[in-house]
Order: sequence, then C-alpha cells, then structure tokens
Amino acid sequence: MSGAVRKKVAVLISGRGSNMTALIDAARDPACPYEIAVVISNRPEAAGLQTAREAGIATTVIDHRRFDDRQAFEEVLHETLLMFAVDLVACAGFMRIMTAYITGLWEGRMLNIHPSLLPLYRGLHTHERALEDGVRIHGCTVHFVTADLDGGPIIIQGAVPVLHGDTPGSLAARVLRVEHRIFPRALSLVACGAIRLENGRITGQWRADAAAFITSPELED
Ligand code: GAR
Repeated sequence: MSGAVRKKVAVLISGRGSNMTALIDAARDPACPYEIAVVISNRPEAAGLQTAREAGIATTVIDHRRFDDRQAFEEVLHETLLMFAVDLVACAGFMRIMTAYITGLWEGRMLNIHPSLLPLYRGLHTHERALEDGVRIHGCTVHFVTADLDGGPIIIQGAVPVLHGDTPGSLAARVLRVEHRIFPRALSLVACGAIRLENGRITGQWRADAAAFITSPELED
C-alpha cells in the first residue's frame, strides 16, 4: 500500500491459529491494507501463540480463568487493545462469548470467522450438525461481532459441497481452506474502508458476480 497507513489489527485466538496464520501471511503483501500488531489468546497453551512469535508478532495471554466474570475479562482485553493502539479486531477461533460491553466498544471494528453459512448453525459442532441435517452445501462466514452470538451483519461467505462419505473432519478441512481465503479478504475490505457497518447494516462497495451461483451436486445442461 504505497503511502497509505495500514490499519493495525489484533488477532484473538484460543487454539491452533490457522486462520491467524492466513491473516499474517496476507499481511506480508505490501499492498495489504492491514498489519497484525498483536495476537491475544485467552488460553496460555494455544498453539497459535508460538506460530505468532515465530512470525515476529507480539503476543499476549489474558487467561479468562483469572477473572470472576466476562466483563472483568473484557475490560482487560479492551485495555490491551488500546495499549496496542489497534484499529480492528479479528476473532480467529476465539472461543469466548462476548458481552454487549466489548461488542459495543468495538462495534463495526470487530470481525469473527464462523464455520457455517450463517444464520444456519450458530454455536458449536457446526459440521456435525450440517451432516446430520443432510445439507448439500455448507461453508463459512465472516461477520461483524455484535452481542448477538454469531448473529452480526455478514461480510463474506464461502460455500463448499458436502460430499458422499464426508465425516465432520473431512468437511471441516474443506471448509477451513475456504476460511483461510475469505477471512483475509473480509479484513482487507474493512481495513481499506470498502465495507463499513452503518446503523447495524453493511454498506460500501464490493465486486460480486451477479451470475455466480453454486449447486451441489453440479447441474448438467
Ligand atoms: C475455525 O474453523 C473457526 O471458524 C472456528 O474455530 C476454528 C479455529 O481454527 N471458530 C469458531 O467456531 C468460532 N465460533 P484455527 O484456530 O485453526 O483458525
């Protein structure tokens, strides 16, 4: 991004951190409108912390078990975000429910990736539930975080087919590959101002092919 100031991002994780890695990798491109300022985990044992350190990124642990309630944890999280002077927050496998306290403070500036085509399958075990229901198309969603769990305005979705013989593991792996593509894209769109949250709705400009569609199984003419 020649000349333009890159937006500073905090990535929140709880575990493996493969989406975090996708965000870090995308930020290596000088044209990327964001940079990762800090990776914050609520779990000291999160494997993603080591990955972030190896990438030369500052890391912080805020162990939620040290706090009496959610807001006390979120107050420290908020102070940490201010300390690192971040513009945006990316929840990348961050497995804490957020209250209206923090979602209100970061409204329009906090994104989350969720492994389903929302509003289907909010919460946990999304791949198991999709297989149980026999859906033929599944996927992932990046959305703004609101106090409504997994219910915030949708920025991007990616779809994958559900294949015969899929297990929760095989389906999760197929969805995860798409997660790694759509999360950096969504974060870039917000970081460069192409997409914004206004009065609770997504606004801005983005390119989409009106003729694009997906079916599974594929339709034959
Ligand atoms: C991802 O599949 C992400 O969508 C999901 O956790 C996984 C984290 O993997 N997030 C949620 O379920 C949030 N409710 P990662 O640590 O390898 O990015």
